[in-house]
Amino acid sequence: MDAVLPNFSDVLPPNIEVKTFPDGDSYVRILEPEKFRGKEATIYGRLWPEQNSRIFELILLARTMQKIGAQIEGAVIPYLPYSRQDKIFLEGEALSIDVLLMLMKESGIKKITTFDCHFIKSGAGEYERAGVKIRNISLSRKLVEKAKKEFSKNLITISPDEGAGYMAEKAMKKVRGGYAEGREAYRKIEKVEGVREVEGKDVLIIDDMISTGGTMVGALENVKKAGAKKVGVATVHAFFLKDSLQKIEGMTDYIISTNTIQNKYARINFFEELK
Ligand code: R5P
Repeated sequence: MDAVLPNFSDVLPPNIEVKTFPDGDSYVRILEPEKFRGKEATIYGRLWPEQNSRIFELILLARTMQKIGAQIEGAVIPYLPYSRQDKIFLEGEALSIDVLLMLMKESGIKKITTFDCHFIKSGAGEYERAGVKIRNISLSRKLVEKAKKEFSKNLITISPDEGAGYMAEKAMKKVRGGYAEGREAYRKIEKVEGVREVEGKDVLIIDDMISTGGTMVGALENVKKAGAKKVGVATVHAFFLKDSLQKIEGMTDYIISTNTIQNKYARINFFEELK
């Protein structure tokens, strides 16, 4: 028996009730507790949008599952919030991701499965942080494979910064196996500008997330300035905050993302990668 939160309803039928009282307090109820007693259970839930409420609901659920005698096998969290506060950049800052993981662990969630976790720069694999085991699945290859169908054979895949370099490197392996042997796929966007290597070519810019869109818009400007022919954008976690989607739509021929965050360009279903 698994515990499915309401915001996972696009992929699994929910069986946990979640409400917010008029004053903002959260309410969580396991609908059929007898089915969980003495059983192993995985929790499925998104922690974005409204991550602070979603995190607290997850903690309420995990503590209640323990109380009724369920054994928590782990949690599937498609996008892990606070993964960008993985370092102390300024003295006195909270190391938010470690606090979040610690809260999970203390509540009985000792293992999570997530996708293209921002602070794991090496891509897919099993990791451990703040006492929680993290299974990180990368959707970059799926994104590139699907996008490839929309472009010419000489598609160049690039990431806008080093952090997402593993995504383009994965694409490069695919390139070597197939259609453009010898071409270097990973390039920092700032290095693309001026060197004309994308002139007249199809280019796919891939990043782990598009949040305010500043990084992607800058990358698109550079690639277009350098003379790219057809330009596409691929991302795993598509927040498209503020007016970023409108801007990106105006600059691209193709957009693809996953449904770790629900949006109109979600063409890859993360849930299929769990099987
Ligand atoms: C940065 O390291 C990430 O890979 C993304 O490039 C970044 O977080 C995107 O943020 P924004 O859309 O706000 O530029």
